[in-house]
Amino acid sequence: MTLDRAELRDLVTQIAAEPERWRDLVCHDTAERHFEQLWRDDTVDVWVITWTNGNDTGFHDHDVSSGAVAVVEGELIEERLVMGGAPRRLHHVAGETFDFDASHVHRMHQDCAAPAVSIHAYSPPLWRMGAYSVEPDGTLRRESISYAEELRPVVAA
Ligand SMILES: [Fe+2]
Repeated sequence: MTLDRAELRDLVTQIAAEPERWRDLVCHDTAERHFEQLWRDDTVDVWVITWTNGNDTGFHDHDVSSGAVAVVEGELIEERLVMGGAPRRLHHVAGETFDFDASHVHRMHQDCAAPAVSIHAYSPPLWRMGAYSVEPDGTLRRESISYAEELRPVVAA
């Protein structure tokens, strides 16, 4: 069984409204992006991520998973790749939720002084992800990585 985008959005919205379930997993004591798994079963996995200034996932996809994100503190920037143009930037502030399907490629980063916290749900549960980099000649490259590896900008070889 998998959850669709609307169900994933409902799930992160519900969890965001119950901070007693995830407040203890928020970690503001590190300069690195801090992620904690709140739940994982055969249908969905849920993560609590704390972002500090400069944290950056690089462009990536979620392989076969759809996802939803609820920003519960601060602000995150999402960028979408646009062929032949500058990336499209979307600002997601506390209280906002967004969702995407498995075809979605994006980069999430945090550029504010104040930390951000977000709740993420993926279905089917994340197993592999694709991390994108640009070669020196401008060609795009995808590397399959485990969900357990931390996403960060991939430097071209
Ligand atoms: Fe993502």
